[in-house]
Parts: sequence; structure tokens; C-alpha cells
Amino acid sequence: MRGHVKISGAKNSALVIMAGALLCSGDCRIRNVPSLADVKLMGQILSALGVHLQQQGDILDINASEIKTSIAPYELVTQLRASFFAIGAIVARLGVAQMPLPGGCAIGARPVDLHVRGLQAMGAEVQIEHGICNAYVPGRSGRLKGARIYLDIASVGATENLMMAATLAEGETIIENAAREPEVVDLANFCIAMGAKIKGAGTSTITIDGVPQLHSTDYSIIPDRIEAGTFLVAGAITHSEITLSPVIPEHLLPIIAKLRDIGVPIIEDSPDCLHILSAEAFRATDIETLPYPGFPTDMQAPFMALLSLAEGDSLINESVFENRLRHASELNRLGADIRVKGNTAFVRGVPILSGAPVLATDLRAAAALVLAGLAAEGQTTIQGLRHLDRGYDRLDIKLQQLGAKIQRVPVDIRV
Ligand code: UD1
Repeated sequence: MRGHVKISGAKNSALVIMAGALLCSGDCRIRNVPSLADVKLMGQILSALGVHLQQQGDILDINASEIKTSIAPYELVTQLRASFFAIGAIVARLGVAQMPLPGGCAIGARPVDLHVRGLQAMGAEVQIEHGICNAYVPGRSGRLKGARIYLDIASVGATENLMMAATLAEGETIIENAAREPEVVDLANFCIAMGAKIKGAGTSTITIDGVPQLHSTDYSIIPDRIEAGTFLVAGAITHSEITLSPVIPEHLLPIIAKLRDIGVPIIEDSPDCLHILSAEAFRATDIETLPYPGFPTDMQAPFMALLSLAEGDSLINESVFENRLRHASELNRLGADIRVKGNTAFVRGVPILSGAPVLATDLRAAAALVLAGLAAEGQTTIQGLRHLDRGYDRLDIKLQQLGAKIQRVPVDIRV
């Protein structure tokens, strides 16, 4: 492969920023929105709440001046975990919300206890009955109250949900042990652009001073660091030279550091453009997934594909989610040598992978199989592309443009 790839807007920013638009009673224009199944689904959920949306290319206009119902639709919410993160915004706007418990990728139990406890600390009555999370704010004002919230785990979604809720609460909210992911900062910047008073996003302590209402804004979301990381791995695994932009290299530090560590040269052509050079071979390494700025769990599967072809043995420890190593057995079908014990994978590097039919079990697993398939000798057929389309903006087309031999096959003629 060779050439340049344009990185799309961040999926995880787009989804929460769309939820954040619920806080505003005016027009919100969101730019750099990636074309993804999850974004479409989030749009359908907002529409079902009575919100007006209009999309043109990567620009999405949202008007939530009237939220007609506080009941989010079960069939849609259960398909997208991030939609649950909107409960804080809905309660903050309406004083009441009914949100089915979330779905999304099957990568672990993924409870919402931190979200619930945070809303309760802010004065909401929250009950979970028959799979629905019912939240309402007692009292005449219907406004949440600022609170001091300590998160047991630095959960990305809980931080975002509670930060959104706090923007319209009465008084000050302090979220301690907050997640520091760039997408949390992006959401905070979007809320600030709407007039929210938020300080400390990107650190472990976020302080929000509630305001009575937020105003219209025009906001562009950050580039997707996981999509960029996936293309870096695509370059490394196929020994290719490619450039990527726009990117924010700072957001990719743990990924760039690991690639350099195993012998893959990466240079910054300009402040928003990365250049990966072809490496003949790469060494094994150990990886532990951690909250940002540690190594991202969303890059664990792509790196497992890469390390399956490294010189030597690697150890991968997944410490964020409890069931996120299911791609190991599918990579083994392609000739990888990976053993899994608990949350740890032992990867013994092999000289070649060979094509085979494989099944994607979740979003990042799907990406890992595409990457392994690019490097494998012979033909690999990947089923379960719906997972891939949830989170990658035309990955197959972008890879094709770089010269990869990859083709989407309609289901009825798949062999
Ligand atoms: C977000 C990202 C996802 C990424 C993950 C970790 C979105 C839409 N998704 O997911 O791509 O892989 O961050 O970087 O932004 N937990 C609890 N109780 C809670 C909430 C979380 O125990 O109430 C646990 C989870 O089960 C998990 C850990 O906290 O083990 C981290 O999860 P969290 O940061 O919340 O992930 P998400 O926000 O769901």
C-alpha cells in the first residue's frame, strides 16, 4: 500500500456531542461528523425524541428546541451503548428521562452504576425497572443540583454523561477521578462553545458551574485517534509507507510510542500529518490497556493482529474490559499463535499468516481481522461487517485507495 489517507471525525466524540446537542434549545451545527452506522443510529434516537436533524455531507444540524418525549426507544438504545450517555442531558433539560439499559459491543458486562450514582448525587431519583432506567428530578424547579462526585472508575461515558447533566444544574459540580480521554475534552469544548462553564476537562478533576440555559453553536469535532491508529497499524503490518491527516499526534502518543518501540519509524510531516515508513520487520512487545493517556483498549485488537507477525513473544493484558480478547481465536484461524488466559493473551510471533474465513465479533475485532487479512497470504473472508461499519468510516474504500486488495462482497454471493 502507498499514499495518503484522510482521517474522519472521531466516532466517540460525534456520538456524545450529538447527545450534548440535547442540552441546547437553539440550533447546533456539528462539523466533521463521520459517516458511521452508530452515528446514524444516534440520529434516529434523537429523532425519536422529537429533535430535528439535517445532514449534509459531514455537517450535521441539530435543533433540540422541542424535545417531545423523555422516553428513548428501546429497539434503538439497546443497539448503541453511547445512547445511554444522553440520559444526563435529557434529565437536565426536562427534569425526567426514561432510558432503556444500553447495548453496543459485547466486550464485557459494562454496567451503568457510576452513571446512576452520579445522577442520584445530583438530586435525581433513579430507579431501574424492567430494563428501563427511570430518572426524574423531584421539586418544582426540576433542575439537578450541583454535587461532588467521585467516580470509582475513570469511566469515559459516566464522565461525559454527568458533565453534560451538570452544565444545566443549579450550582457547582465537581467530578473527581474523571476520564481524561480527548473525546471528553472535545465534548467539554462543545459545551463551552454553547456557553457552559467547565474547567479541568482533560484532567482528573472537572468542575462545572451550572447555567440556566445553553445557546446555539457551530463546532467541529476532532479527528478519530483510533481510526488513525488503525491506519498506522495497517501501514506497519503491510510494510507500507503512508501518510495520514488530519491527526492530533498528541492524542496518538501511546500508539506512536509502541510502534516506534517495535521498530516502525513514524515521523511528523507537519503538526497534523503523520508519516509511517516501511519497516522490514518489527519486534514483539508487551501491552497493557489503560485509561487515557495509557494505551487505548480500542487499539488492543489491531495491535494483536500486528504482534502476531512480530519477531518474538508478546504479552497483551486487557485491563479495561473483561471480555475483549475474543478476536484471538479468529486470528489463530489465520495462522496466528495466540493463547488466552483470563484477560491476558500470549502472542507468539509467526512468520506468515494465511487467508481463511473468519468472523468479526465486535467493532475493533473486525478491524483487527481486516488488518490481519491485508497481511495474510491468500484470501481472507470476513463476516460480521456490520460491526466494522458501526465505527469505521468506509474503511474498505480508504484501504482500497491506498492500494489494498479489499472488496466488500454482497451477502448473497459470499462463498
Ligand atoms: C468508551 C468508548 C469505548 C472505549 C471505552 C474505554 C464511547 C462511545 N465508547 O466506552 O470505545 O473502549 O470508553 O476507553 O465513547 N464501568 C463500570 N460502571 C459504569 C461505567 C463503566 O463499572 O457505570 C466500567 C466498564 O465496565 C469498563 C470500565 O468501566 O470496565 C471503563 O468503561 P467506560 O470508560 O465507561 O467505557 P464506555 O464509556 O462505555
